[in-house]
Amino acid sequence: MPHPVFSPGHVAVITGAASGIGLAAARHFAGLGMKTVLADLPGPALEAAGAEVAAIAPGGRADLLVMDCDVGKQDRIAALCDAVYDRFGACDLLMNNAVTRRGGGAFAPFDDWHDSFEVNLFSVVGGSQAFAPRMIAQDAPALIVNTGSKQGMTNPPGNLAYNTAKAAVKHFTEGLQHELRNTEGCRVSAHLLVPGWTTTQGRAQQPGAWLPEQVVDYMLAALDRGDFYIVCPDDDVTPAMDRKRILWAAGDITENRAPLSRWHPDYADAFEKFEG
Ligand SMILES: NC(=O)c1ccc[n+]([C@@H]2O[C@H](COP(=O)([O-])OP(=O)(O)OC[C@H]3O[C@@H](n4cnc5c(N)ncnc54)[C@H](O)[C@@H]3O)[C@@H](O)[C@H]2O)c1
Repeated sequence: MPHPVFSPGHVAVITGAASGIGLAAARHFAGLGMKTVLADLPGPALEAAGAEVAAIAPGGRADLLVMDCDVGKQDRIAALCDAVYDRFGACDLLMNNAVTRRGGGAFAPFDDWHDSFEVNLFSVVGGSQAFAPRMIAQDAPALIVNTGSKQGMTNPPGNLAYNTAKAAVKHFTEGLQHELRNTEGCRVSAHLLVPGWTTTQGRAQQPGAWLPEQVVDYMLAALDRGDFYIVCPDDDVTPAMDRKRILWAAGDITENRAPLSRWHPDYADAFEKFEG
């Protein structure tokens, strides 16, 4: 059974909707006849995305709200929420999806860390805080989907700022769902979407990566089932490999190994054996 949120006339709000997974989601929801809100930084990409999605929506532009919104700024998130309720009177699905890859390692400029946290974490907290009370008041099934990352669970070396923000998105979304399910009469649930490697940012398809449409299809099937954790595989990494990698990362604590032992030469053989 499709989740009742995915019905014609219902309202889907997507941040970072001008590209990648967000744009694929916007296309899909518009195709279902949902009122679709595309929020992203201003510019040609957002305009092009609006035109593309308007061509799919049964009611064209009348079914869309295309809003330039820097989700790193809390007043812009509040303005987005007001604009959605002014225009469509509801929000049935909120996807906190926008991302910046600014960041870097432990000693990357503090400003880059700050940007990473504003866009990758605080927009998720702020978006949930702005929309959830009004979504709860609708007294109808509704969904908040926050986008995390496997990097927020296994912490590979590289962009530590991104990994740290995404780890916090996981914790925040888990706690949010706990609070929602303990709120009397609340019919809103939160979910954590964790894409695998996905070809986005307008790039040519990379071997091993999924297409954004595959992530959206996987997410919809999981939401129909009521899954909280939506951990997508890709053409290189199977669900079984993901399970092993997540367990190995947790095992660094429970087995008193070095942190990030998966990338430590002393543990290379043990990890290879564990992953099988
Ligand atoms: N692509 C992958 O392999 C992958 C893997 C794991 C997780 N993810 C996550 O999936 C989500 C979507 O990723 P994607 O690869 O489709 O993204 P993308 O880079 O294709 O698109 C991200 C969009 O966010 C927008 N954005 C950036 N800063 C913004 C801001 N301050 N305000 C509003 N919009 C802003 C960009 O303009 C862009 O349109 C992200 O949360 C990302 O972390 C992606």
